[in-house]
Amino acid sequence: MQTFRNIKKLQKFIIGLKKIGKTIGFIPTMGYLHEGHLSLMRQSKKENNISVISIFVNPIQFGPKEDFKKYPRDFKRDEKLAKSAGVDIIFYPSIEQMYPAGYLSYVEVEKLSNLLCGASRPGHFRGVTTVVAKLFNIVQPDIAYFGQKDAQQARIIQKMTQDLNMPIKVKVMPIIRESDGLAMSSRNMYLSSQERKDALILNRALKEARRLIKTGVRDSRTIISTINYLISAKHTAKIDYVKIVDPQTLTEVKKIEKSVLIILAVWIGKTRLIDNLAVNL
Ligand code: PAJ
Repeated sequence: MQTFRNIKKLQKFIIGLKKIGKTIGFIPTMGYLHEGHLSLMRQSKKENNISVISIFVNPIQFGPKEDFKKYPRDFKRDEKLAKSAGVDIIFYPSIEQMYPAGYLSYVEVEKLSNLLCGASRPGHFRGVTTVVAKLFNIVQPDIAYFGQKDAQQARIIQKMTQDLNMPIKVKVMPIIRESDGLAMSSRNMYLSSQERKDALILNRALKEARRLIKTGVRDSRTIISTINYLISAKHTAKIDYVKIVDPQTLTEVKKIEKSVLIILAVWIGKTRLIDNLAVNL
């Protein structure tokens, strides 16, 4: 496994690999790796000759009051985990490499970026699409892997590659959860033991909502009320949003007639957690 910190050197190296016919799988991350990230790496290992990950806590996708500074970082630990998952190359750039003085270019996917998490975190997805477009140009992958955990992010990236004719296949892989159901996230480490217990309500409420849909409830409002009720019972929880949306367009569905995505963001204490569950009809 090799680590590159310099963009030009990595680009040259990748061009060399592509010339000799190697296929490239790519997993962008912000590090502090867990099983969710590693599942994407293992999938890439199966489907490509070379697997590349990036580790970069991207400052432009964090709001001024968000956790950019305290976001967990541990490169040594990440290196070991990446190696164990069969990664060949880590791209680990500095902020100056990615955004040198005088940087001016941004990529924005309209509409989709302003819904759901985009409404609560203005500018967040513009930061994500900009960094991912840059990373795609640097790594030039054949296949890029994203997690359904960040369902909106995955849809926005798919739309970006389609709209901008990027010759990259975007694959979205299932959410990896802890054995008690909590969706894995680098941010779970912020939770106190009480908050960690309360956080279980996210997955439980989603599953209860799915059960209601499966028993024939079709009115989204009824289901959302149940989710709100279950989550609000936890003292540390404060709902940002709970929505039932079309899995592709992410627009709200009032009457459930086909497969939907139940998607939510909830503050547990000072930590904002997201989760979602697809319900297939
Ligand atoms: P990060 O939060 O580190 O996540 C990197 C990738 O891992 C994303 O595609 C995310 O959806 C996936 N992932 C995280 N938790 C997961 C879980 N429990 N199960 C399955 N996949 C999971 O998302 C980002 O970084 C950044 O926004 C990034 C795309 C790197 C741009 O900066």
